[in-house]
Amino acid sequence: MPSAPPIRPLIAGNWKMNKLPSEAVPWLRTLLDRLAAAPHDHCDVLLNVPATHLVPMAALARGTDVRLGAQDVSAHAEGAYTGELSAAMLRDAGASFVIVGHSERRAYHAENDALINAKLGAALAEGLVPILCVGEREDERLAGCAREVVLEQLAGDLEGIRLAGADELVIAYEPVWAIGTGRTATADDAQEMGSAIRADLVARYPESGASMRILYGGSMKPGNAAELLAKPDVNGGLIGGASLDADQLLSIVEAAR
Ligand code: 13P
Repeated sequence: MPSAPPIRPLIAGNWKMNKLPSEAVPWLRTLLDRLAAAPHDHCDVLLNVPATHLVPMAALARGTDVRLGAQDVSAHAEGAYTGELSAAMLRDAGASFVIVGHSERRAYHAENDALINAKLGAALAEGLVPILCVGEREDERLAGCAREVVLEQLAGDLEGIRLAGADELVIAYEPVWAIGTGRTATADDAQEMGSAIRADLVARYPESGASMRILYGGSMKPGNAAELLAKPDVNGGLIGGASLDADQLLSIVEAAR
């Protein structure tokens, strides 16, 4: 495998279904003030927020280097799909990224790899950068097939997906048993899976796979972030609980240095 050039880390919050839009705006104002006082040229900062929050947060974030993303997208471009949000709508509302295939959507909304594949296509067609989540359940890890599960997800999710460059896609390795549980994969386990994902990306995208960002997600906190982020194939974090707290998020930004 070619040796990867340095990859700029991406520190990405996933707010899930938390905070009201009216709470998010003053929260973001505080974060922006504090980021302005703490140079953070070493990484990109992104908040994946509920879609209702995008317009007011984007108005505030305009002209700053904080990016906004959504947490899901319709596989369809437009039409009679009650309750769905298209990639174009999310982009117009201020998103530049979107999480696709989060394990909570796989588990609670029966999303399968075919649907996730279609959602990736819809996001890319509108110029949104998908953050594709993959990861094994605890029973799968205990059965010794974590790697097979993740590689199978990648195969199904990325089938036929063409990319023009490394910045068009982000992968997040999120072991399901580590999400919201306070249990984290060890840095070595995260790297082992990161390197398997890297090899798959390089085989699939010879031009750009070595430079694509692979994030770790699952109880990343200020106390464990630096060790995880020091690994070559952990190029950032997808952070749930800790991203709701500006102090914790800023500590993780600092840990990416
Ligand atoms: P926690 O950081 O709360 O474990 O959530 C991780 C996650 O699911 C990010 O997408």
